Amino acid sequence: MNEQEFLPISGTDYVEFYVGNAKQAAHYYQSAFGFQPVAYAGLETGLKDRTSYVVRQNKITFVLTAGMSPDSEITKHQAKHGDGVKVIALWVDDARKSFKEVVSRGAEVVEAPKELKDEHGEVVVASIKTYGETIHTFVERKNYNGVFMPGFVEWDPVFKASDTGLLYVDHIVGNVAEGEMNKVVEFYRDVMGFEQLISFDDKDISTEYTALMSKVVSNKNFRIKFPINEPAKGLKKSQVEEFLDFYVGPGPQHIAMATDDILKTVSEQRSRGVDFLSTPDTYYEEVWDRVGAIEEDKKALKENKILIDRDDEGYLLQLFTKPVEDRPTFFFEIIERKGARSFGKGNFKALFEAIEREQAARGTL
Ligand code: FE2
Repeated sequence: MNEQEFLPISGTDYVEFYVGNAKQAAHYYQSAFGFQPVAYAGLETGLKDRTSYVVRQNKITFVLTAGMSPDSEITKHQAKHGDGVKVIALWVDDARKSFKEVVSRGAEVVEAPKELKDEHGEVVVASIKTYGETIHTFVERKNYNGVFMPGFVEWDPVFKASDTGLLYVDHIVGNVAEGEMNKVVEFYRDVMGFEQLISFDDKDISTEYTALMSKVVSNKNFRIKFPINEPAKGLKKSQVEEFLDFYVGPGPQHIAMATDDILKTVSEQRSRGVDFLSTPDTYYEEVWDRVGAIEEDKKALKENKILIDRDDEGYLLQLFTKPVEDRPTFFFEIIERKGARSFGKGNFKALFEAIEREQAARGTL
């Protein structure tokens, strides 16, 4: 019997961010990244403690939630961590069974299964803890045909930006404290039934100043992939340590969103105000020899500062945004896979050197 049959997962259901101002955050995701308005919950729908806007682009659904009073758990979370990811929701066929299976294997309970109902049907949700204050919510929505979930109404504003070609969540990376990575990997292996894909050590991922270690866990169908980073010893403060300081603890570091035309996606997002990390011209002096033949126009890739990497199965194109909030914490990756199933190991050094230039500008290095 397949060891993961106890927790089949169909994909990422949604990611919920706790933010300082949900209304303004929703506008940023619409205008800059091209997400479409989907649903709303707040005072007008009978909620007193929070406001949530739901936006979507193809299979990527984000919920932007802000607290409404100083004593709300959402407001406190945002005050401590800044804007960031609170919930990584997993789409399952049976939320009660998923919850029972992982709790029997040691998962810490956040909320036992509950049914949410309205005229469009029923959604079952149940939540457990993962690293830091981040949680996983199992979402069973096979008996629901409303816009998002019971409690939400359709949000249909006049302003709608065109999409930018984002398709689905490719992977979500977590940053944890030094010495914690293996415990988190064991949680995903023993409690969730995930498998470890690849491991990098600090020889792979280091520059003159900073280093980190990373292991990747995945569910059986590869729809859920979680690289987990911890800082390693470097001469100066690593980007993972800087994240842990500013986020005040472990948390999701980046979400990689897939596209099938990265040149179009990145140039469109850049024109709408998304800030991407810049790639040094020297990167393009050595990359073509490293990656071999590719389909894309090399000049266009260089102009758009896109990173390229190859593994045994193919190649990938990727680019990282700068942090999308005031603290140097959470950011996005745009990724286009051309057969490769890895995460851009060959780009880590080039990427980290680019991040270090940003860190130096912030006075961290
Ligand atoms: Fe990534």
